[in-house]
Amino acid sequence: MELAELQTQLAEISRQAQAAAQQAATIDALRGAESKISKGPLAELLKSIKSFPAEQRGPAGQAINQTKKAVEELFAAAQARLRDAELTGVKKLAADFDPTLPPPSVPRGSLHPVTIVQREVERVFVGLGFSVVGGPEMETEYFNFEALNIPADHPARDTQDTFWLTNGWLLRTHTSPCQVRAMQRFGPPLRVIAPGRCFRYESIDASHENTFFQIEGLLIDKDISIAHLIAFMKLALREVFHREPTIRLRPGFFPFVEPGFELDMRCEICGGSGCPTCKRSGWVEVMPCGMVHPNVLRHGNIDPHEYTGFAFGLGLTRLAMMKYGVSDIRVLNSGDLRGIVNPQRLAGRTIRAG
Ligand code: DAH
Repeated sequence: MELAELQTQLAEISRQAQAAAQQAATIDALRGAESKISKGPLAELLKSIKSFPAEQRGPAGQAINQTKKAVEELFAAAQARLRDAELTGVKKLAADFDPTLPPPSVPRGSLHPVTIVQREVERVFVGLGFSVVGGPEMETEYFNFEALNIPADHPARDTQDTFWLTNGWLLRTHTSPCQVRAMQRFGPPLRVIAPGRCFRYESIDASHENTFFQIEGLLIDKDISIAHLIAFMKLALREVFHREPTIRLRPGFFPFVEPGFELDMRCEICGGSGCPTCKRSGWVEVMPCGMVHPNVLRHGNIDPHEYTGFAFGLGLTRLAMMKYGVSDIRVLNSGDLRGIVNPQRLAGRTIRAG
């Protein structure tokens, strides 16, 4: 190559560099354009120096290096310009930013309907002096059955189809095992509620699930009678349902209470005259309850001659279904609650019995 030809090519490279530096809108684009030129035509020319006659190699090298330096400076200046512009933009944004404006709204999920109802019931009982306790979902046969006065050969075991684990434990079929756990742990006098998940080996349909929530209640003290049970339940139901309840007790059999009851509430929908919600009976079953059986107290290391108490079991899942008008229990475990009216919006509203 001749020196004159080299000069022409270098001039063309400078022209291209100027155009690229002007067009690039971002620093990244600038860097890209610069490396394209320095690694492309400029690098090629440097390699071609050896094809010059020996005495021209010096001036050729100088010319190429001069252009190289000029291109570098050109891009450096362009970068500085872009940085300035960016900074001005940020400063303007900062000047326009009003920290007193409310933030843009973020779409949020809501609590699960069962959680909402659980918290509401907890609030009521905590207000009545109860503590909230927990218990394991994987339970021993002893706490789930034996300690609750349900020995291995007792027919009551057949009413609670159980998931047995290979180690001999089971998935608790109710929250009642928390009763004896609480007695052993805290001793009398005692006021606890134990909300939690329970499991039964059920075929699933609109009203049966293998996984559901209950809330257990237990009060142990001296001279506790059925009158206390009734008074407490009325008070609690009034708070939970936000209305003065008319209740009735029917005998109900549960091995861990004696006597045991089914507690019904006068149907709110029809006022007791009979409707589809209460199956024309005028009453809605709310919770089973009873006076703690002496054997259960003994398992809890409590002397039944000194202390008595009452217990109740509240179906949390059922309560949530009543509150939100959910007719199919499977919806609540499905992970898709779009069919249910926004529970957050209803959170402060009355739980309707039916
Ligand atoms: N654990 C019983 C069940 O799941 C419900 C129950 C009945 C709980 C009577 C109680 C009670 O505390 O006193 O069927």
